[in-house]
Amino acid sequence: MAALFYRHFEVLMEKKGLMVKGLAFIWGLAAAGAAWAEWNGLNAEQELALKLKPDYNRGLELYRICAKCHNKQGWGRRDGSYPQISGQHFNVLVKQLADMRANNRENPSMQHFIMPEALGDAQALTDLSAYISQLPMTPANGKGSGKDLELGQELYMDKCIGCHGDNGEGDNEKFYPRIQGQHYRYMLRQFNWIKAGERLNAHPDMVIRIEHFSMRDAKAVVDYISRLKPPKELVAPSRKWRNPDFD
Ligand code: HEC
Ligand code: HEC
Repeated sequence: MAALFYRHFEVLMEKKGLMVKGLAFIWGLAAAGAAWAEWNGLNAEQELALKLKPDYNRGLELYRICAKCHNKQGWGRRDGSYPQISGQHFNVLVKQLADMRANNRENPSMQHFIMPEALGDAQALTDLSAYISQLPMTPANGKGSGKDLELGQELYMDKCIGCHGDNGEGDNEKFYPRIQGQHYRYMLRQFNWIKAGERLNAHPDMVIRIEHFSMRDAKAVVDYISRLKPPKELVAPSRKWRNPDFD
C-alpha cells in the first residue's frame, strides 16, 4: 500500500516537473520577448519619427547645438569622448535619439539638449537624423595600437560580421549601426558597456556573443573595426574639409 502510494506520488511529481518545465519555457519566451522590445520596437516616438518627411534645413538649424560637442562636421573627437555621428544610418540615428529621450540609453552629458522642451517633437528627430546621416565622414578617425589586428579580424569574422556586415557598414533597415571608421575609444567604451549590461538598448544577441571576450579580445576587435574604411563616397576628401553649411 505504501509502495503504491509512493508510486502515485512519483507520477504526480513527474507531472509537476513537466508543468514547471513548461512554465519555465513560457517564462523564457516572455523574457526573450521583453529583451527584444527593449532593444527595438516599443518606442512610439521612434515609430512616428521614421514615418515623417524630413526637412534638411530645419535639421541644419537644430544641428547647431549638437555641433558644440560633435563638431560642425559631425566627426566628434578622435579621443572618442564624442562619437562621430556623420554618415550613420538614418534609422539608427532616429532610434538612438528616441531611445535617449525614452531613457532607454543613458547619456547624461547630452540629455538636456535632446529633450522635447529643448528640441521639439518627433519631427525634430527626423530632421536632425536626415541632416546628420548625409554629412561626409572623417578620413582620420581615432584608432587603436595596431598590435593585435590578426586576432581582431578573426574575432570580427566569427562574432560580428553577421550583423555589422563584411566591412562594418551595418544595416539601415535592421537598425544595425555603421561602425567602420568610428573612433576606437568610443567603440571600446560602448563595447564594454554593452558587455556589462550597462547599455539598455543593446541587442541581446550581441551581448551573448561577446560574453567571454577578454579585454585583449575587445581591444583587438575594436581596433580592427576602427581601421575598416567606409565607402569613398561617404568620406570627406580630406581631414581639412569643413562643413560649408556653417560658413
Ligand atoms: C554636451 C555635449 C553633447 C551635445 C550638445 C550633444 N551630444 Fe550627442 N553625444 C554626446 C556624447 C558624450 C555621446 C556619447 C555618449 C556615450 O558614450 O554613450 C553622444 C552620443 C550621440 C549619439 C549616439 C551615437 C552612436 O554612435 O550611437 C547621437 C546619435 C548623438 N549623440 C546625436 C546628437 C544630436 C543630434 C545632438 C543635438 C541635438 C547632440 N548629440 C548633442 C555629447 C553631446
Ligand atoms: C545580433 C547582431 C549583432 C552582433 C552579432 C553584434 N552586434 Fe554590435 N550592435 C548591434 C546592434 C543592433 C547595435 C546597436 C543597438 C542599439 O543601440 O540600438 C550594436 C552596437 C554596437 C556598438 C556601438 C555602436 C555605436 O555607434 O554606439 C559597437 C561598438 C558594436 N556593436 C560592436 C560589435 C562587435 C565588436 C561585435 C562582435 C564582437 C558585435 N558588435 C556583434 C548588433 C550586433
